[in-house]
Amino acid sequence: MATKDITTKKPAAKAAASPKASPTASTGAAASNGQSVPSVQPVLNQQFNAPAPLQKYGTVSQRLPIGLDEKTRQESVNNLNQMLADTITLRDLYKKHHWQVVGPTFYQLHLLYDKHYEEQSVLVDTIAERIQILGGVAVAMAHDVAELASIPRPPRDREEAPIQVSRLLEAHQIILKNCHDFAKQADDSGDDGTNDLLVSEVLRANEMQVWFISEHVVDTPLARAE
Ligand SMILES: [Fe+2]
Repeated sequence: MATKDITTKKPAAKAAASPKASPTASTGAAASNGQSVPSVQPVLNQQFNAPAPLQKYGTVSQRLPIGLDEKTRQESVNNLNQMLADTITLRDLYKKHHWQVVGPTFYQLHLLYDKHYEEQSVLVDTIAERIQILGGVAVAMAHDVAELASIPRPPRDREEAPIQVSRLLEAHQIILKNCHDFAKQADDSGDDGTNDLLVSEVLRANEMQVWFISEHVVDTPLARAE
């Protein structure tokens, strides 16, 4: 018997996608001896009849008892989503430059860019999980990140290494200025966890990366002292 292809078809109604409303989906076909055989068919395409989302982006819930009021959580979540969008953007800027760099400093920068990419990836996860702890919804997908990010969009083209470094330093500075502002706001509102995250992890890591990147555009002699 030919198998019905249900993977590419949109269900006609919500009831069709629900195992509760469609008992045949769970009981399966009858075997030759007349007994019912359980179906192993996954219930597919449920996204086409999705119910209301569990939580709307931009809202905060009070799920976890962490001693912070809703106003404080909302302010921190808003700031952290801005920080998250910019950190994702900086992370990806490092990978772009890791792939595209050329020139006498290729090996240095190729490796350094990837090291910083990995460190920014850790920050991305830490910031996103802090947003969830506070009862918010972390921004995640590239198009949403691009809308929210304040770091200027780079061209798709390959650029010279000093231009790459300049772009990275500009991005770090945007993040660091926000770090100071957001950490102060978190401190004022009593959100010590967010303040600590922004100062101890995000700010410190970005300052260190600024140092390592900046030294590559100091114009010093390569082989003979002038
Ligand atoms: Fe690589």
